[in-house]
Amino acid sequence: MPGLTAPSDYSQEPPRHPSLLINAKTPFNAEPPRSTLVASYVTPSDFFYKRNHGPIPIVEDINRYSVFVSGLVESPKQLFMKDIWMLPKYNVTATLQCAGNRRTAMSKTKTVRGVGWDVSAIGNAIWGGAKLSDFLELVGIPKLTSVTQFGGRHVEFVSVDKCKEENGGPYKASIPLSQATNPEADVLLAYEMNGEPLNRDHGYPLRVVVPGVIGARSVKWLEDINIIAEECQGFFMQKDYKMFPPSVNWDSIDWSTRRPQMDFPVQCVICSLEDVSTIKPGKVKISGYAASGGGRGIERVDVSVDGGKTWMEASRSQKSGVPYISEHASSDKWAWVLFEVTADILQSTEIVAKAVDSAANVQPEKVEDIWNLRGILNTSWHRVKVQASHSNM
Ligand code: MTE
Repeated sequence: MPGLTAPSDYSQEPPRHPSLLINAKTPFNAEPPRSTLVASYVTPSDFFYKRNHGPIPIVEDINRYSVFVSGLVESPKQLFMKDIWMLPKYNVTATLQCAGNRRTAMSKTKTVRGVGWDVSAIGNAIWGGAKLSDFLELVGIPKLTSVTQFGGRHVEFVSVDKCKEENGGPYKASIPLSQATNPEADVLLAYEMNGEPLNRDHGYPLRVVVPGVIGARSVKWLEDINIIAEECQGFFMQKDYKMFPPSVNWDSIDWSTRRPQMDFPVQCVICSLEDVSTIKPGKVKISGYAASGGGRGIERVDVSVDGGKTWMEASRSQKSGVPYISEHASSDKWAWVLFEVTADILQSTEIVAKAVDSAANVQPEKVEDIWNLRGILNTSWHRVKVQASHSNM
C-alpha cells in the first residue's frame, strides 16, 4: 500500500470540532447543528458532515502515495500526486448529501436500519482537483467514451479503509464510464476542500467527488481505479444504498431487483428552527437549504405556516450579490440554494417547506409513502412545530 495505510482500530483518529453531533463514534459519523448550515453558502470543512465506515486511513509519505489504474485499458498505470497536480485544476462548488440524511425522521414511522441522521448529513463545499475525464486520458481513454475497446463500461474507485460490511475489505463504488469521461459532469479527483488540502476525515490525500449523486459514490482515500465491464459488485453498490418500495421487508428483500441509487432527488429542509421551537409571536425568519441531484436547479421553495393549507414562496440565493436563477450560467449547478422567508406567526403552528426542481419534480408530502427499510432518501415535506409564547424568552 504505497504511502497510504489503513489502521485496524480507532486509536489514530483526527481531531474534530466539539460542536458536531455524533451519531456513531466508531466508525465516526457526525453532523453539525442544523443552524450552522444556513450560516454560510459554503460549509466550513469543520462543520461538514463526516460519514465513515471504518477507521480513518493515514498517509505516511505523500511522495510515495499513488493511484493505480488498471482493468480494461490498454496501458495500466501507477500515477503519483505530482502527475495529478500537473493536470488542469478545477474548482467545483458541489453539495454532497448522504442518502441517509433525515433517516431518524423516517424511522419514526417504522424502524429502519442504518446510522440515524437528523437533517445535516449534507454540506456544500468548493472542491479543488483534476477532472476525472482529463485523468483517464493519461491511460488512453478519450473524453466522451462509453465503452473502451476492451469492453470497459464502468469506473470503479477503491479505497483502503477497513469496512466491516466488506468483511474488513475496502470501501468501493463505481460510476458509468460515460459520466466519468464527460468533462461537463465535473467528476473530480479532489485534493482540496474549500481552498485547503482535504483533511483526513474528508479523504486526504485524494477523493472522488461525483456532483449531483448521493455521497456514497464519492469514494475517499482513493487507491485504485479499475475500468470494468459491469458496475462494481461491492457491498455499498449492491447490498446498500438502494431504494425499495414500502412493502419490502427484511424477509422479502431481493437486492438484485433494484439499481444502485445514483442521482439524489429534490430535497429541502428548514434549518433556522429545530423540530420543536418556542417563538415570540410576530415576525419569524424561516430559512434552510434546497438541493436537487443530476445538476437540476431549484425552481421554487414553498413555505407554509399553517401546516400546508396555504403557501408562500421563499427567496433563493447562492452567492451574495448574484441573483439566483435556476439553470443559468451564473448559478452553481451542482450546489444547493439557501432559501429564506419571513412570516407573521401569532400562534402555535406547524411550518412546512417543499421544493420544486428545474424538471418540476416536487418533494412527496408524506414520509409513509416513501418509507423504505434502509431509510434512504427521506425527501418528504419538511415540518417543524413552533410554540408561540408571550413570556420573556
Ligand atoms: N469513501 C470511503 N473510502 N469510505 C467511506 O466510508 N463513505 C461514503 C463516501 N465515501 C465513505 C466513502 C459516504 S456513504 C458518504 S455520504 C460520503 O463519503 C461522505 O463524505 P464526507 O465524510 O466527506 O462528508
